Amino acid sequence: MSASLTGRRVLVTAGPTFEDLDPVRFLGNRSSGKMGFAIAAAAQRAGADVVLVAGPVHLPTPAGVRRVDVRSAAQMHAAVFDALPADIYIGAAAVADFTPAQIAPSKIKKRPGEDGLDLHLVRTRDILADVAVANPRPQLVVGFAAETDDVDANARGKLAAKRVDLVAANRVGLKGSGFESDDNTLLVHDAAGHVQLGPASKAEIADRLVALVAARLSQESR
Ligand code: CTP
Ligand code: CA
Repeated sequence: MSASLTGRRVLVTAGPTFEDLDPVRFLGNRSSGKMGFAIAAAAQRAGADVVLVAGPVHLPTPAGVRRVDVRSAAQMHAAVFDALPADIYIGAAAVADFTPAQIAPSKIKKRPGEDGLDLHLVRTRDILADVAVANPRPQLVVGFAAETDDVDANARGKLAAKRVDLVAANRVGLKGSGFESDDNTLLVHDAAGHVQLGPASKAEIADRLVALVAARLSQESR
């Protein structure tokens, strides 16, 4: 029998962030938001009270889920901390690591003779790492690791570095998994090891991830 999340507050982030360069341009990434939206829907089906903080995506809001739309990494950070406290945090968003140091107030124009443009970017705040040390801290903090190489080693590294309970690692850039696809395979790491979910549809993977999280939470609460 799968554990239920009745009465639990679950906070999920999903999608990319867009970092504006000027009034008409931005830096983004290929995240579709599908995995995070599927997780929000699965948590809602499991009985949780779900808040979904979504970057710019064109996806319908899952039934019964409260959705907060944001654009940039800074806005996502603020929306997440507005929505806390939560029992479970699942950071599925592909948050920009860097953002332009300044947003140009007018469209950046090319000038005759200029053969390039240097962009100065600064680091964004790490939402996941900040949630993992928030007070009160969610009982379970789940991160994602989107990797093109060394998926396992990188996921284990993130587990320790960010003090999170679980890291769901995702190989991106391959056909049939990752950002834009409807199917996925996740390797879910904790301090003890990992389990593989899928390959399966993102809806199926989301149900299994939520079941895993619910089981862990009920174990810890015992
Ligand atoms: N994350 C975050 N805030 C950021 C950057 C990342 O909350 N500013 C979260 C993501 O939502 C994800 C996890 O951190 O849950 C890992 O993201 P990923 O991009 O795979 O790793 P990073 O830690 O950013 O490291 P790198 O991109 O250098 O591999
Ligand atoms: Ca990153």
